Amino acid sequence: MHGFSFFIIKAVILQYGTKSLDNFCNLYYNSKMKYYYIITYGCQMNAHESEKLARIFRDKGYEAAESAEQADFVLFNTCAIRENAEQKLFGNVGAIKSLKRKRPSLRIGVCGCMTQQQGAADSLIERYPFVDLVFGTHNIDAFGSYLDLLNSRKGRVIEVWEREAAINEDIGYYRTDRVQAYVNINYGCNNFCSYCIVPYVRGRERSRSIPAVLGEVEGLLASGYKEITLLGQNVNSYGNDWGGKDSFSALLKEISRLTGKFQLRFMTNHPKDLTRSVVECVASDSRFCHAIHLPVQSGSNAVLSRMNRKYTREDYLSRVAMIREILPDVALTTDMMVGFPGETEEDFADTLSLAELCRFHSAFTFVYSRRRGTVADAMQDQVPEEVKTERIKRLVALQKEIASSVAKEYYQNKTFEVLFEAADTRDPSRITGRTGAGRLVSVKGDPSLIGTFGHVKVTKAGANSLFGELTEV
Ligand code: 5AD
Ligand code: SF4
Repeated sequence: MHGFSFFIIKAVILQYGTKSLDNFCNLYYNSKMKYYYIITYGCQMNAHESEKLARIFRDKGYEAAESAEQADFVLFNTCAIRENAEQKLFGNVGAIKSLKRKRPSLRIGVCGCMTQQQGAADSLIERYPFVDLVFGTHNIDAFGSYLDLLNSRKGRVIEVWEREAAINEDIGYYRTDRVQAYVNINYGCNNFCSYCIVPYVRGRERSRSIPAVLGEVEGLLASGYKEITLLGQNVNSYGNDWGGKDSFSALLKEISRLTGKFQLRFMTNHPKDLTRSVVECVASDSRFCHAIHLPVQSGSNAVLSRMNRKYTREDYLSRVAMIREILPDVALTTDMMVGFPGETEEDFADTLSLAELCRFHSAFTFVYSRRRGTVADAMQDQVPEEVKTERIKRLVALQKEIASSVAKEYYQNKTFEVLFEAADTRDPSRITGRTGAGRLVSVKGDPSLIGTFGHVKVTKAGANSLFGELTEV
């Protein structure tokens, strides 16, 4: 790219003399294709927001680069949920400094949950003077104007809005996946679980309208998407902000009226808000996947209460029983945390026993991480690191055992309809498909099958991976 530009400039000097060079450089700078590279941390919500950032980049004339080395603009879309996400970010922003030194025209931006925290933008720009742009989650829609500013004058742009803005339906998404698509239904969270930073960095709950969501889903199905995942920090409180009642069920019923073959998923649920009627909606349409992610966090009532989760162990277990009564083949998954302040050995034993009772298909397991400004951060009895480490090992080992025995019972030698989604990165002769339960299964198959449905008999079922073969039915 640079060799090429040098050649053109030399040719201009030879042909027109140095006088025209300035004009030509301006013209060349404006017409030269620019490349972006987005590095995304964290959850599906962030991954989807990076699709919006990519849309904005492209609307401003940028193309995707294959690596940070080839990019004119590197944007970090950050996560703040746990300390290790932040540490990773700091390491990677630090590492990009050498690229900027080699190529001073390179622009570097940082946005997302981490920058939305109070004081984070200031410490970031102080620590990394080579960062050109910082903005937060609330002003993501203004990213295009920040790009314009950076391209039109010297200097940095640092702007973090304190409050969330109204939902903007005007900016689209640039999706690279052709089979599966995320669709946001609500933003923000009102729950203030005492360990969680999300309500502070993503603001209060705001729901999109049913027609807006439906329109987007319809558009995606019309353009060939086969798997739609509805996203929200708590999809079960969809519509509460506009006074709706059980609006999430209403939304599911509307989606059910759409024609065509697709898979519908949603995440994430809150045990205190997931209603029977939502589960009944899932059961009523074969295109709605029998997969429910229901984060429990802890099996101890004392811990759940201090976490401000607003349900008890017994409430949770009865919710699970309700789900299994309506959807006997449901794949139930969860999030569990160890080492919350004040967690005793008995509390932890309650988490282990709940995992045994629920037999989750899979679980994300976390070590509690102190988040500045949250209620739990100020709690006195923080659990020592070595205790947390020891507990997470025990929880992971138990859950692994459960997941492999559940996988054998649920999948081994059984046939499932799957949606083929991608080439298997480990073996070019194979492709991967997703079962209704949300598990990836690898089969020998031609990439032309990607985006179609087929039947697969599972021949090997492990805790984390499934292998199978294509069958007729
Ligand atoms: N420390 C550890 N895990 C956390 N989570 C949220 N906040 C924290 C924290 N401070 C976990 C919860 C949540 C998941 C998305 O991340 O389990 O469900
Ligand atoms: Fe965080 Fe709780 Fe809201 Fe989930 S429901 S985003 S854990 S505050």
